[in-house]
Amino acid sequence: MNAPTMQGLNLSAPAYVKNARLLAWVADMAALCKPDSIVWCDGSQEEYDRLCAQLVEAGTFKKLNPAKRPGSFLAWSDPSDVARVEDRTYICSAKKEDAGPTNNWMDPAQMRATLQPLFDGCMKGRTMYVVPFSMGPLGSHIAHIGVELTDSAYVAVNQRLMTRMGKAVYDVLGVDGEFVPCMHTVGAPLAEGEKDQTSWPCNPKTKYIVHYPETREIWSYGSGYGGNALLGKKCLALRIASTMGRDQGWLAEHMLILGVTNPQGKKYHVAAAFPSACGKTNFSMLVPPAGFDGWKVTTIGDDIAWIKPHADGKMYAINPEAGYFGVAPGTNTLTNPNCMASLDKDVIFTNVALTDDGDVWWEGMEKDQGKLPAHLIDWQGKDWTPEIAKQTGAKAAHPNARFTVAATNNPALDPQWDDANGVAIDAFIFGGRRSTTVPLVTEARTWMEGVYMAATMGSETTAAAFGAQGVVRRDPFAMLPFCGYNMSDYFQHWLDMEHKLEESGHTLPKIFCVNWFRKGEDGKFVWPGYGDNMRVLKWMLDRIEGQAAGQETMFGVAPQYGEINWTGLDFSAEQFATVTSIDKAAWTEELKLHADHFEQLAYHLPKELLDTKAALEQRLAAL
Ligand code: OXD
Ligand code: MN
Repeated sequence: MNAPTMQGLNLSAPAYVKNARLLAWVADMAALCKPDSIVWCDGSQEEYDRLCAQLVEAGTFKKLNPAKRPGSFLAWSDPSDVARVEDRTYICSAKKEDAGPTNNWMDPAQMRATLQPLFDGCMKGRTMYVVPFSMGPLGSHIAHIGVELTDSAYVAVNQRLMTRMGKAVYDVLGVDGEFVPCMHTVGAPLAEGEKDQTSWPCNPKTKYIVHYPETREIWSYGSGYGGNALLGKKCLALRIASTMGRDQGWLAEHMLILGVTNPQGKKYHVAAAFPSACGKTNFSMLVPPAGFDGWKVTTIGDDIAWIKPHADGKMYAINPEAGYFGVAPGTNTLTNPNCMASLDKDVIFTNVALTDDGDVWWEGMEKDQGKLPAHLIDWQGKDWTPEIAKQTGAKAAHPNARFTVAATNNPALDPQWDDANGVAIDAFIFGGRRSTTVPLVTEARTWMEGVYMAATMGSETTAAAFGAQGVVRRDPFAMLPFCGYNMSDYFQHWLDMEHKLEESGHTLPKIFCVNWFRKGEDGKFVWPGYGDNMRVLKWMLDRIEGQAAGQETMFGVAPQYGEINWTGLDFSAEQFATVTSIDKAAWTEELKLHADHFEQLAYHLPKELLDTKAALEQRLAAL
């Protein structure tokens, strides 16, 4: 039989690809994007090695010294393409109100008309990779399948580490299974005979990260970096999945999932939401400190959780991802020893610095090494020395430099991380980065109060990230850049969950609010954080077991000093008061800011949130 061709392009798929909709879609997209060739990725090691070798050949990858970092590569991106582009990210629902005030919106027809000419011929001179992936354990009833078409081999190899990618996905997909189509191009077509002038092709001028929630499609143009390009992550697993969860009665959350086992062998599971850059990967790989002999913390996921209620009355969570795309700077054996061990081999590094002996380096590593390296090549290919850094402030690694690594590299990986049934969640934790006001930990008295805590959480901005320093950027549920629909409808979905679950006899997980980042008068963090967060985690478990009385505050139930295990840490009752106190004046201001926040989200804002705020105001007045 002759292979089907289109303008010389061989369209024939491997025999194991039987999904009619997929075959038709790939043909349509090939007709639109006009690649030179199509590669159907099978996810094998041979394919990974071949694509990595190709990336080395193209200059995108540098192979790292195998004696130092076996099986690992370093990529430096275009300086214009270093992070997610929130201002170019769109939720194109049919109605603007359904995207809500926190998302960019464009009418879907208008967006399609905008993207059509951009995608027309966008892969000329390039290969289109067909990348099938499962978000979640293959075949799990909680998982979903996506297929990404991309003209970036860098994306294809990253997806093999970040997702369950390859041939087995087609078996799950079968002839007529559902998948989320994910279109991706770097937006840099090549003219006939033209060769890339750059090792990181992208479109420095035009970028679009587009979601059509009603038809569950993702179209990404112009960027090859991170969440803009690895479309299973923020685009599918959060923005599209949150709308699926709303429609189907489950939750897609920006949450790590960890297991914690006590010395008696009883295991709990906790899902925790923190805004970006608040140490989620560190918390998910926490090493219990002195005084916690026999305790074990294990990682199920470091970024995203899909959570579904089950007939046994519990909520079960899976990590839809299979790898970590984590921020490298700041990571060292003091902040996250398990993460450092995960990075020993088989890693793709992006935008970190290169050492003279062919290894990688980033800011923070000097704490392990006791000194700064004498010389490096920085992420932009320039010489870096401590003197240059002192004079110019140049960072060797970009602050958003990343590692991509398979979860199986993590020595603290939970044995159930790939369990198709997921793990039963005992508690949700929500936390922002606040130097004042929000206490170290409180437990919500009710589900409603917990939703309030999550809906109002926020982080103080750093000057580099979002303009003025110290302004609180509200990041409800840590979902601000990731909710695929109107944020107030999302709050309602969480509130509805309580009633649905209670009606069907479910036990609702407890909800806690944390803030590791309170500062003292000297401007320094008071709480040691990292492994010592175990002390707070243990108090939460004691609350679950009814073994800690706690004390009422206006913002939930807080621990008493004596309820925390302080073994191995010198932390006085005064210091504890500094991180747990409720300051009346600060909270009066805080509640005004909650009012502004709710005003912004007024469309469909659940009235119960305003009632809860009124109740908090009354409690505050009584202080
Ligand atoms: C991430 C983020 O990269 O939240 O995980 O920005
Ligand atoms: Mn994240």
